[in-house]
Amino acid sequence: VPRLKLGSQGMEVSAQGLGCMGMSAFYGPPKPEPDMVALIHHAVAAGVTLLDSSDIYGPHTNEILLGKALQGGVREKVDLATKFGLSFADGKREIRGDPAYVRAACEGSLKRLGVDCIDLYYQHRIDTRVPIEVTIGELKKLVEEGKIKYIGLSEASASTIRRAHAVHPITAVQMEWSLWTRDVEEDIIPTCRELGIGIVAYSPLGRGFFSKGSKLVDSLSDQDFRRNLPRFQPQNLEKNDQIFEHVNAMATRKGCTPSQLALAWVHHQGIDVCPIPGTTKIENFNQNVGALSVKLTPEEMAELESYASAGDVQGDRYAGVAMLTSTIGHAKLRHV
Ligand code: ATR
Repeated sequence: VPRLKLGSQGMEVSAQGLGCMGMSAFYGPPKPEPDMVALIHHAVAAGVTLLDSSDIYGPHTNEILLGKALQGGVREKVDLATKFGLSFADGKREIRGDPAYVRAACEGSLKRLGVDCIDLYYQHRIDTRVPIEVTIGELKKLVEEGKIKYIGLSEASASTIRRAHAVHPITAVQMEWSLWTRDVEEDIIPTCRELGIGIVAYSPLGRGFFSKGSKLVDSLSDQDFRRNLPRFQPQNLEKNDQIFEHVNAMATRKGCTPSQLALAWVHHQGIDVCPIPGTTKIENFNQNVGALSVKLTPEEMAELESYASAGDVQGDRYAGVAMLTSTIGHAKLRHV
């Protein structure tokens, strides 16, 4: 797996990362720990070294899992990324970016991961009650103390990215970017590129939609959070499935799987873009690494894009409050 430079501070990561969320949370019941440790070891051995977690995954159990997988010399081979700022207090979703919270969250993550230093520490969601300068000020202290190496933001607006970057260089911005989620191309991606900030694309497979379209929904467990997402609702699936069918037909022609084609589209966005597909299966992991070898011409890129142009996608990325507490979603709602 090739490597790429993330941001302008010297961070280097594998050109594809591994999203670890689904191993412990949100996508149905947690998966067996020994299997997930084996998967992480397999990924690192294959050269996929950027592991993506958050303290909210579980909560906490995903970082504990990673902590186990990192033992025995694995940590040294890994680009370790986790996040803070989202919590469920008394069952209520909360966003926190105040300095005391940031510091305590970092200490907690370090302990669960069993490491002295987190390579890339993201603010998972922006706390609009705390000026971003104040949050980044505390992260800057954590960098100076050697507890984190690089700073990232997730789901931040262009103006937040700019203000944050003025306090301390931001190494990466994580955002949902895939064939059916392209609103970031308007403002956020140009801002990252102007400032030399790396781009980490989450849900590059459309949360698995590009593996089998609407059939995915039938295979989800009752507890799977995707059942609540607007794009997976029956009234939206029929139209969204048409997008999948086109992608699937093109994949057949290309001799790859539709997931690989969707992922290859993200890989072709530039050498500053690192997609982090999530998987809990070695077989799917191997397929995703294989997407790095799928080559697309500009014509094929345009063809793919024509199938999934924004107007054809039915449903928001998130439902209700989650959409509102995403600054990108917020901005988008204001335009509506
Ligand atoms: P997220 O960032 O939310 O994890 P994603 O990366 O777009 O979203 O997609 C992840 C989903 O796609 C997971 O449900 C994963 O399921 P498995 O754990 O069963 O693999 C699925 N997925 C990942 N790679 C896949 C592949 N190559 N083929 C089919 N499904 C895949």
